[in-house]
Amino acid sequence: MRIFVTGASGWIGSAAVPELLAAGHEVAGLARSDTSADALLAAGARVHRGSLDDLDSLRSGAEEADGVLHLAFKHDFDAYASSGLAERAAVETMLGALEGTDKPFLFASGLALLAAGRIATERDASPFSGPESPRGGAEQLALSAADRGVRPVALRFAPTVHGAGDHGFTAVLADIARRTGVAGYVGDGSNRWPAVHRSDAGRLIALAMDEALAGAPALPVVHAVAEEGLPTRAIAAALGEALGVPTASIPAEEAADHFGWLGAFFSADIPASSALTRERLGWTPSGPTLFEDIAAGAYSAAPVSR
Ligand SMILES: NC(=O)c1ccc[n+]([C@@H]2O[C@H](COP(=O)([O-])OP(=O)(O)OC[C@H]3O[C@@H](n4cnc5c(N)ncnc54)[C@H](OP(=O)(O)O)[C@@H]3O)[C@@H](O)[C@H]2O)c1
Repeated sequence: MRIFVTGASGWIGSAAVPELLAAGHEVAGLARSDTSADALLAAGARVHRGSLDDLDSLRSGAEEADGVLHLAFKHDFDAYASSGLAERAAVETMLGALEGTDKPFLFASGLALLAAGRIATERDASPFSGPESPRGGAEQLALSAADRGVRPVALRFAPTVHGAGDHGFTAVLADIARRTGVAGYVGDGSNRWPAVHRSDAGRLIALAMDEALAGAPALPVVHAVAEEGLPTRAIAAALGEALGVPTASIPAEEAADHFGWLGAFFSADIPASSALTRERLGWTPSGPTLFEDIAAGAYSAAPVSR
């Protein structure tokens, strides 16, 4: 099958593309630059030129495909509202192109605020509704398109999809620790973050795509979660040890100053289960744990580009 992939050149996309190719699919990846186009060609994908700001390119990419994997996102956390609006516009456009076709639309989402005080499951609905909400309320919008002849599947990634070369949240935490000389956590650091290795996330995406190509999934949510909830205090301690800096509590009222935009995310308690995902898709994470990656030096000199 031909799969249109936005964000194919990104951290998760570049792990998903080889898995989709290995499953026998043809991949057309969205590329907004020559660098991204070259990376896609080298990976064995075709190139579909365009960008999140060029809705026609998203429409044609979706129309020409048997299924869509949408991973591109504007990771400008200082302008998060406009990233959300762009996400909503992109999702609306591709859903429009797929309407009435019964084709899969797999899209990236997150685990924030699904279930206060308990472990979130795939059955918990996203609380974010409307264009002004985080990620433009795209999860609710897309899942409601099941009524319009589309097979939407929310891929809820753990906040750290980790591994050597990561430039996501854990890399930013490491960068802050290097810069401030302290591996901080917020308050008592008992709030938990789930984690998944990038290789496991890539494999899971291909499994979810094949499930959705075969028929509309009864439960259209996938949790890319290998570890349910690591205390953020322990994450900070692991980073501190790897970087040779002390670990310290940062009072909640100083979190924004210390961590910048990441403060709100690193304060969140968002444990999540993937039991239903594992059972349904036969997925067993086998990559390194977050602490194994940190101890192996994956974050000891990580560049940060977002
Ligand atoms: N990584 C994580 O830990 C994590 C955790 C939870 C959720 N997620 C979500 O999972 C998805 C994939 O994340 P990721 O870590 O793979 O992101 P990433 O490494 O930052 O890659 C982002 C991708 O989006 C593309 N992109 C960004 N702006 C674009 C634009 N204006 N037009 C076209 N393409 C654009 C990038 O293309 P270029 O190559 O041209 O830059 C790149 O392929 C995102 O929705 C993210 O929010 C990730």
